[in-house]
Amino acid sequence: MFITLEGGEGAGKSTQIRRLAAHLAARGRPVLLTREPGGSAGAEATRALLLSRPWDAKAEMLLHFAARREHVARSIRPALAAGAVVLCDRFADSTLAYQVAGQGGDRALWDGLVQLSLDGVWPDRTLLLDIPPETGLARAHTRGEVNRYESLGLGFHSRVRQCFLDQAAAEPGRFRVIDAGQGPEAVFAAMLAALPPELGA
Ligand code: TMP
Repeated sequence: MFITLEGGEGAGKSTQIRRLAAHLAARGRPVLLTREPGGSAGAEATRALLLSRPWDAKAEMLLHFAARREHVARSIRPALAAGAVVLCDRFADSTLAYQVAGQGGDRALWDGLVQLSLDGVWPDRTLLLDIPPETGLARAHTRGEVNRYESLGLGFHSRVRQCFLDQAAAEPGRFRVIDAGQGPEAVFAAMLAALPPELGA
């Protein structure tokens, strides 16, 4: 079972995904908790490159997918094969939202890279933690240092949010949209209710 969390900045994904991992582990499920960009040694090194400086738009998309392929090959696929539940903080939907909708990148390139680099590994369920960018960015800024993407403007983050919502509307079988503006307890309860029934969480 491959579960991803998606959403804009300051939606609380990282905190909630840790809590979800602990919840499933306490119920005896083997869990791999991982993130993108990153999640394996090479992909974490690529994350540092991606966050440290601006890139040519196509180079940036290729770097995200290079990191993703490495992550899938070395961490996600082996964990799935071993029967673990894989919980991943961001995946390919983030590249569509940030690099294509946000930065004006090439949608056909995204489609092609999904086909070329993932060997069919794709989330079974995606929980979209949705929050207005004004609220999310304010939370991210109070949290401390902001990364290169967080410092982009409200127009960028509004396009990112709309893209995630459009993806959710286009794939209602895979996505569940959760209002991340609620308190953390309500968000977590909504996440549990949105998991596939096989997880019995
Ligand atoms: P994080 O803050 O959720 O760990 O993610 C790091 C940043 O990387 C975040 O601002 C979103 C951005 N990002 C992309 O632009 N494209 C991607 O494909 C992924 C996975 C993340």
